[in-house]
Amino acid sequence: MPMPNYLKIVIDNTFNKTTYYDNNHSKGPIQSNAVISINKGNMEARAEHQRTKQYQTIYTFATSIGVGLVILILFWILYFRNGFAWQSNPSLEFNWHPFLMTLGMLFLYSQGILAYRTGRRFEKKPLKLAHAVLNFSAFVLSVIGLKAAFDSHNLSSKPIPNLYTLHSWIGLATVIIFATQFLIGFTSFLYPGLSQSLRKAVLPVHVSFGTGCFTLAVVAVVTGLLEKAVFAIEDYSARSSEGVLVNIAGLAAALYGLLVLYLLNEPDYKRTASGDDQIVLDRSE
Ligand code: HEM
Repeated sequence: MPMPNYLKIVIDNTFNKTTYYDNNHSKGPIQSNAVISINKGNMEARAEHQRTKQYQTIYTFATSIGVGLVILILFWILYFRNGFAWQSNPSLEFNWHPFLMTLGMLFLYSQGILAYRTGRRFEKKPLKLAHAVLNFSAFVLSVIGLKAAFDSHNLSSKPIPNLYTLHSWIGLATVIIFATQFLIGFTSFLYPGLSQSLRKAVLPVHVSFGTGCFTLAVVAVVTGLLEKAVFAIEDYSARSSEGVLVNIAGLAAALYGLLVLYLLNEPDYKRTASGDDQIVLDRSE
């Protein structure tokens, strides 16, 4: 019998009888233990469509804040901080640090951890690859960004001590956790890959540490901006335009972080298995 597109099920407990009506309104009894597959093109699909639309709206808003933040940092460095250089000018080499750390550890990292939700309609394999590539790019940019910060201390005509600030401790912890996560994630889920049962055990830990590490990255960006403003902006207390710009960048980073964490933790936006779902109705249960 061809499966109807529309199915209405009436369960009458008094007479222990179940009746279904298909879209032609023809009526028929359901056998005990009958398994009915209902095409997902109905209610569940509509709810899924609604969730996807909601996710996309918040994701687009969050991503525009993220892109705006990276552009703001770039503008700050070019307009107020004399641009970029490498080891020939350590103080300008430092400027790579905020730019690359924000682009890598905040923006690319967040896009990487959201990949499964953003690409919920795709197969799992390309999503896994996108997740790994985005995270790896975040890591590479962070290593260059850290080198710029250390060089700016070590190569300065009056060398500055390393790792004495709270920001540098939080920042270093973030990068160490991130690198460990990447290594464990890569070997567990990509290559060579663990057994199914071990993957199942590792996954919740991977997700928790990934989310926690992203939170630390947001804290590192905010404390880094605050620190630089206090160290370098002479008229910060007079609410100079540079100071206001840096404050806005810090607020944008915090807001971006909150939105990403919301998208990441909302169970409704979790990727569901693709393909037709089967609803199994069994009256004997
Ligand atoms: C997730 C992002 C970030 C991480 C992981 C991070 C990490 C670090 C680390 C490990 C250091 C120590 C370098 C040394 O001691 O030689 C450092 C230095 C520094 N960072 Fe960041 N950073 C981040 C973002 C930022 C941002 C956005 C700024 C904004 C300007 C910033 C400003 C600074 C400053 C001023 C220093 C030099 C003073 C110090 O050692 O604290 N950082 N950062």
